[in-house]
Amino acid sequence: MTVITCIEDLRRLAQRRVPRMFYDYADSGAWTESTYRANEQDFQPIRLRQRVAVPMEPRSTRTTMVGQPVAMPVALAPTGLTGMQHADGEILAARAARAFGVPFTLSTMSICSIEDVAEHAGRGFWFQLYVMRDRDFVARLIDRAKAAGCGALVLTLDLQILGQRHKDLKNGLSAPPKPTLANLINLATKPRWCWNMLRTPRRQFGNIVGHVKGVDDMSSLSAWTQQQFDPTLNWRDVEWIKNRWGGKLILKGIMDPIDARLAVQSGADAIVVSNHGGRQLDGAESAIRALPRIVDAVGGQIEIHMDSGIRSGQDVLKARALGARGTYIGRAFLYGLGAMGEAGVTKALQIIHRELELTMAFTGHTDIETVDRSVLVEGTYPTA
Ligand SMILES: Cc1cc2nc3c(=O)[nH]c(=O)nc-3n(C[C@H](O)[C@H](O)[C@H](O)COP(=O)(O)O)c2cc1C
Repeated sequence: MTVITCIEDLRRLAQRRVPRMFYDYADSGAWTESTYRANEQDFQPIRLRQRVAVPMEPRSTRTTMVGQPVAMPVALAPTGLTGMQHADGEILAARAARAFGVPFTLSTMSICSIEDVAEHAGRGFWFQLYVMRDRDFVARLIDRAKAAGCGALVLTLDLQILGQRHKDLKNGLSAPPKPTLANLINLATKPRWCWNMLRTPRRQFGNIVGHVKGVDDMSSLSAWTQQQFDPTLNWRDVEWIKNRWGGKLILKGIMDPIDARLAVQSGADAIVVSNHGGRQLDGAESAIRALPRIVDAVGGQIEIHMDSGIRSGQDVLKARALGARGTYIGRAFLYGLGAMGEAGVTKALQIIHRELELTMAFTGHTDIETVDRSVLVEGTYPTA
């Protein structure tokens, strides 16, 4: 057994342990995957300034995101079907995040329901909302998140139509997997996953099945979701959601200064500079390159977060240096979950934390709050 020292090790282990259709679902981007690749690659040319003979201890990565204390500026991103990477995945990831002191964000398209996660992993996690045509359902979701004590609402604005991922179509992605010959052959090679999945009742979209009239099995569910994402979503809806929710509101999927300014006007508490991990508009700019332009446009008027492409604590430090108060990790925690369940998510968080605080030391910082653009080498980072 190899010693796990980086997120890439977790990815390799997840690839061995998770059924192909769910591994591919996590590890892929839209169309040519050019944005998916750019998200990671564009962190690489950014260079750090090494400092020596300056105090290195004690070090603190503690900060806040939308006013909430966090052990480091990293939250777990909302990811659909997380309970298919590993049985009870959302509950396990939420527990790991809570123990570590970082926010877990539950997706609308989760397997474990809002209530289930609150009961088994504790209240206070964040909830991510997709706006559906059925606004009564949306209103009920908001109310359910409120009742479950969710600490913030993350409203995703960049998925009103679905980006196309070739592998998902070719694999016939569904939850639970259909018993086709190809699936059964692949499942036979993943005994640990199958064993855990057989022992849990959580195998469908928990927030939806049983909460929408007429949606009680796989085929009615897939018909419902396909026609429910609402392409008419607009800023008036954002206002309605803000009023109904009444708590901290984070708008996710902002890549353009024009949209960032509208987000400020909407009165939201934070925005997430994100291209959905390269899963929506292939050809979009990487999120780390878009970040400085957004900071230039609205920095100081709204809290700015970012995600897409973060695979290490160094990436977190670079994003923070370029003006993101907080970051989110999607695949980095999903690989951990698929590889080793709750312990794997903890491992992913430990790896990123260690990389972050060591990099702080090497760049002459003991407190994450003092990290700014000066840790980066001039000319190597994107600017507005
Ligand atoms: C498998 C998977 C499922 C996702 N599902 C959702 C979702 O349900 N809601 C959402 O807002 N974002 C979703 N995202 C996007 C993530 O929240 C986040 O923006 C992205 O993963 C960040 O990129 P990274 O994976 O490179 O860290 C998903 C991402 C992945 C990888």
